Amino acid sequence: MRLGIVGAGAVAGLHAKGAAALDGVELTAVCDLLPEAAAAVAEPWGADVFTDYLAMLAAGVVDAVVINTPHSLHKEMVLAAAAHGVHVLVEKPMATTMADCHLMEQACAGADVVMVVGLIQHFMAEKIALQHTLATGALGQVLMIHDYRSTDYRPGTRPAWFFDKSISGGGAFINIGAHCLDRSLWVGGAPATRISATTLNRFGSPVETDGTMELLLANGVQLRITIVSDTPQNIDEMLVVCEFGTVTVDPRRGSFMEIDGVRSTLHTSTPADIQNAFTAQLADFIAAVGGAEPSVSGQHAKHVVELVLAAYHSADSGTAVNVAATLQPTQ
Ligand SMILES: NC(=O)c1ccc[n+]([C@@H]2O[C@H](COP(=O)([O-])OP(=O)(O)OC[C@H]3O[C@@H](n4cnc5c(N)ncnc54)[C@H](O)[C@@H]3O)[C@@H](O)[C@H]2O)c1
Repeated sequence: MRLGIVGAGAVAGLHAKGAAALDGVELTAVCDLLPEAAAAVAEPWGADVFTDYLAMLAAGVVDAVVINTPHSLHKEMVLAAAAHGVHVLVEKPMATTMADCHLMEQACAGADVVMVVGLIQHFMAEKIALQHTLATGALGQVLMIHDYRSTDYRPGTRPAWFFDKSISGGGAFINIGAHCLDRSLWVGGAPATRISATTLNRFGSPVETDGTMELLLANGVQLRITIVSDTPQNIDEMLVVCEFGTVTVDPRRGSFMEIDGVRSTLHTSTPADIQNAFTAQLADFIAAVGGAEPSVSGQHAKHVVELVLAAYHSADSGTAVNVAATLQPTQ
């Protein structure tokens, strides 16, 4: 498998190291508008550097690509990859509109190429440990989840495109909220039927810097997500309330369970966990190219985008949104 990466940003190095760790995968090309950024990711692995992704696809040097670029560019890049018969692992969020998600799916299906959305939470050891424990039945049913994550949406703290809604699709919700929705829906075990959300635009930011989402899942699980910018400590925690006990899950600490006053450790985090997750995600994608079912379905990835858009609709209108009724406000 000859792998390319388009977009040499924050996690490109993790994707590249993932490729190096897997048998039968070779990083052959890295593309970025900034040649020095592409070179920094490509050079350790002897990969070619491109500044035009269409030229990279036309060069015939890749069988698959990781699309790791600003959100609204995902669609055109996935469509181009499909047109060249190249399989795609596209970073979250899948796209910024449902119409783009459908076009991407149709293009890949029509070209008989695999597209998987990179929803990394499914490969994080602390979440996998939680899922394994839930599967034993020791905790009973999940009843309620509180997902709380900090970020930083003060203008100047991240590349400018994150603050341009026409490129990013929004702020803290579509970027960080996508992770929270992904993992909480996965752990909650069902799609959402209703969402109500609030947003804040602090620091003069043109996109939301903070917000809350309250969701009801189809199986009755209640979910609350809070995302806040610029907090005294970094926070990245799920609190999962089950019939017989509770679990806290944090990638910096691990997963801890409490049943009737007795605490136990499900996973202790290590510095290798994040790289291991990116390597496992790439292995899962390559297995999907080989015909296996991917760990993250296209349906789930689209639902995450649908819910982010529904959250914006709810925050703008001040009403709860019935998701099954395709973004219609509830009465
Ligand atoms: N899985 C994760 O944990 C995780 C973490 C961070 C970012 N992401 C996702 O990765 C994607 C990129 O985010 P980022 O933080 O790396 O952004 P970034 O701005 O740091 O990097 C994006 C890169 O894409 C390049 N680029 C832009 N347009 C291009 C084009 N037409 N052709 C080639 N290169 C182009 C830019 O020059 C830049 O180097 C987003 O979808 C983001 O949500 C995922």
